[in-house]
Amino acid sequence: MRRKIVAGNWKMNKTLDEAVALVSEVVNMVKDEVTGDVQVVLCPPFVYLTTIRQYLQGQSRVALGAQNCHEKASGAYTGDIAAPMLQSIGVQYVILGHSERRQYAGETNAQLAEKVNIALAHGLTPIFCCGESLEQRQAEIHFDFVRTQLTESLFHLSPEQFADIVIAYEPIWAIGTGLTASSEQAQEMHALLREHIAGKYGAEVADNTSLLYGGSANEKNAAELFACPDVDGGLIGGASLKSREFTNVVKARQ
Ligand code: 13P
Repeated sequence: MRRKIVAGNWKMNKTLDEAVALVSEVVNMVKDEVTGDVQVVLCPPFVYLTTIRQYLQGQSRVALGAQNCHEKASGAYTGDIAAPMLQSIGVQYVILGHSERRQYAGETNAQLAEKVNIALAHGLTPIFCCGESLEQRQAEIHFDFVRTQLTESLFHLSPEQFADIVIAYEPIWAIGTGLTASSEQAQEMHALLREHIAGKYGAEVADNTSLLYGGSANEKNAAELFACPDVDGGLIGGASLKSREFTNVVKARQ
């Protein structure tokens, strides 16, 4: 089912005390102020997941997500984290293919297909990220580029598996830059993604897929972005690090 989702990607930020303060505030604000059916997902750094989970007990409105997982289930991969580990500590979502990991860790579409498989096999909902660079947009190859990201990392899935995928469109030029995509640009790409999904899996699956926008989304522009018919929610970076602002983004989606 197509869900409204607002996920906070904390990236590599916060000490333990700061992380605990942030989750406590967000949980309280969401409890007091959010009445709609939006699903909130918090994606802190790995080291805080078990601690943060304690603050989310009994809070079905706020779920727990990780920022990455390895493509193998276990093994000699020093410093990495596997999907079964995340499952074993109660993580529900995992961000996969964020542009920062594609850029700094060299993640490829083929590798991401494996990560998607292992995440699904261990009960994690992938938040699969796609998005083009400024150069690609200027060269007008952005639609093809993003379509290929989906084709190569997701289109091997069965329709039943695909039903568990959440997609986040994050134009690289909009991430952390203050340059948000206009609502027209976001809607245009989201509609194209839905059409691409429909071409592979049919209109019903496409209509049920949650498509999130990410890239300098904040409390000021969220309502306009979320008003787009094909924008089902957001993947929020900088604005998720402040409880008041993040809750305001959630409220813009409820
Ligand atoms: P910003 O909201 O900081 O631009 O980051 C977006 C993002 O990368 C979320 O995954």
